[in-house]
Amino acid sequence: MGNLKIFSISVVRKYLMAITGLFLSAFLIEHLYGNTMLLYNDGGEAFNQYCEDMTGNLIIRIVEFVLFGAFLFHIIDAIVISVQNKNARPQGYAVDKQSKNSSWYSRNMGFTGSIIFIFLALHLRTFFFEHRVLTSSKTYFDTVAFSFQHGWYVALYVISMILLGAHLNHGIQSAFRSLGLSNKNYAGALKTAGSAFAILMAIGFASFPIIFYFNLLGR
Ligand code: HEM
Repeated sequence: MGNLKIFSISVVRKYLMAITGLFLSAFLIEHLYGNTMLLYNDGGEAFNQYCEDMTGNLIIRIVEFVLFGAFLFHIIDAIVISVQNKNARPQGYAVDKQSKNSSWYSRNMGFTGSIIFIFLALHLRTFFFEHRVLTSSKTYFDTVAFSFQHGWYVALYVISMILLGAHLNHGIQSAFRSLGLSNKNYAGALKTAGSAFAILMAIGFASFPIIFYFNLLGR
């Protein structure tokens, strides 16, 4: 394979990585909005209704396939890119030089991504598999309330959400750069917006297990 071809494949790969990443971020906004229904003091009625409406909607079911495809592509591509980077890096490259030229967040995308992957596997087992495959007789709200009674499960969620924030903190600005949507004039603003989004997602998602575990809504 010629160098040009390898180059163009890696550019396409970078684009797709960015597009799938931004699509997954858009999903997070929708998911966080759905989760806010857990805060209503209605015994979970609004939240259950929202989940039922989403699963019963044909368009949402199609988007769900795209979502799982995006997750899969994003993960496989990340593995391929990191193996390639590892092979391309000269031996004995000064470690302190690397940390001077890049942030902790960018150097640990593989680590934070791997923890998110483990979180996701457990998360889908708890909710998606339980309700959509095993068609549990419990309601979605009951599963949330039951799961978040367990300290280890809550701790895993909170740690994962902090790492999700770290992943998004670098991922969002990197995606805009990959797509050529960033330039010198507003690179700083994009970075700030990316960090704000990352913090909002981390605090937003982490709040639910904490609220349920400590019964902060007094239910
Ligand atoms: C603490 C916060 C969270 C709660 C309470 C929660 C709750 C739920 C529930 C009840 C479902 C089942 C809905 C269904 O089967 O359609 C679900 C599905 C899902 N969640 Fe979460 N979730 C949380 C955080 C997250 C995070 C941070 C991610 C991603 C990093 C995520 C990714 C997913 C995915 C991919 C699905 C399957 C989507 C689908 O079926 O269309 N969740 N979640």
